[in-house]
Amino acid sequence: MSIIITGATGKLGSLIIEQLLRKVSADQIIAGVRHPQSERAQCYIKQGIDVRICDYDQPETLHQAFDGVSKLLLISSSNPDDTVRLRQHAHVIEAAKKCNIEHLLYTSFAFLGDGIDSTSLHHLHLATEHAILTTGLPYTFLRNALYIDFVGILGLDAAIAKGELSIYPGDWKFNVVTRHDLAVGIATILSESCHENKTYELTAPRPWTFEELAIALSKLTGKSISLRQDTQIQNWIYGFLAKINTSSTSVDLERFIGGPVTPLTDSIKPFIGSHLPKST
Ligand SMILES: NC(=O)c1ccc[n+]([C@@H]2O[C@H](COP(=O)([O-])OP(=O)(O)OC[C@H]3O[C@@H](n4cnc5c(N)ncnc54)[C@H](OP(=O)(O)O)[C@@H]3O)[C@@H](O)[C@H]2O)c1
Repeated sequence: MSIIITGATGKLGSLIIEQLLRKVSADQIIAGVRHPQSERAQCYIKQGIDVRICDYDQPETLHQAFDGVSKLLLISSSNPDDTVRLRQHAHVIEAAKKCNIEHLLYTSFAFLGDGIDSTSLHHLHLATEHAILTTGLPYTFLRNALYIDFVGILGLDAAIAKGELSIYPGDWKFNVVTRHDLAVGIATILSESCHENKTYELTAPRPWTFEELAIALSKLTGKSISLRQDTQIQNWIYGFLAKINTSSTSVDLERFIGGPVTPLTDSIKPFIGSHLPKST
């Protein structure tokens, strides 16, 4: 069995390969990269991992990269334009079909098509899922929750300095996850052979609230941090959050991790590093 991971130099791709190395031998893993001379790609080569050029904008590289491969994990493109991303994904899907890949897995987005979707992000992921279905290839849709990184846009430094976290009013709930947890779960799925034609919602099993975030911040920093609802707040993230489903949950991710997801306090530590007491 050989498993190719596209976007292998990215943050999620690197973590998936790190986790996959615990489950299968290096010679079963192929890192699909844009730049084989990059530090990360060279590191893979030293680990005994085959590195192949895999550029979503250059279909010929994809045909070469997928030759003889059994499983393909398409990590969604990071291009900021969803129309471009759709074309890039189509290139990968066409190449997967031509190369007769045995199993095509795709990192989609959690809880698509539940009625509140109106962003181009939802259309992109649904269109990619549909394009994969047109191939007739066995597939798995890994519908990833929003990454915990969004907390970095909430003004945590200011909240800690002021002792007050300002948020836009609403019944906010967050099923968000760390990339590390996703990587552990996805590596399990990639290393097993019972996931064909399945869709998994890789979210936290219980959503947390802004009240819980303020408590976590207080606990980590040792400072009292209260919550304030502010209708005047200017932050694009709330418009985005309102259009995606961050409240529904699933136990899929914990099932594949084989234990609990990373607790909120640990998940947010990287985003408040300079405020943590030395012993934390
Ligand atoms: N669920 C969420 O909250 C969330 C948030 C942000 C993004 N995402 C999606 O999840 C994906 C993985 O996240 P991440 O944090 O690992 O992103 P990342 O660190 O930015 O990595 C993106 C990867 O995609 C590769 N890539 C970009 N354009 C490409 C192209 N034209 N052809 C081939 N490879 C290309 C990059 O290659 P280089 O190293 O050569 O640049 C990199 O390896 C993102 O790409 C995005 O679609 C999800």
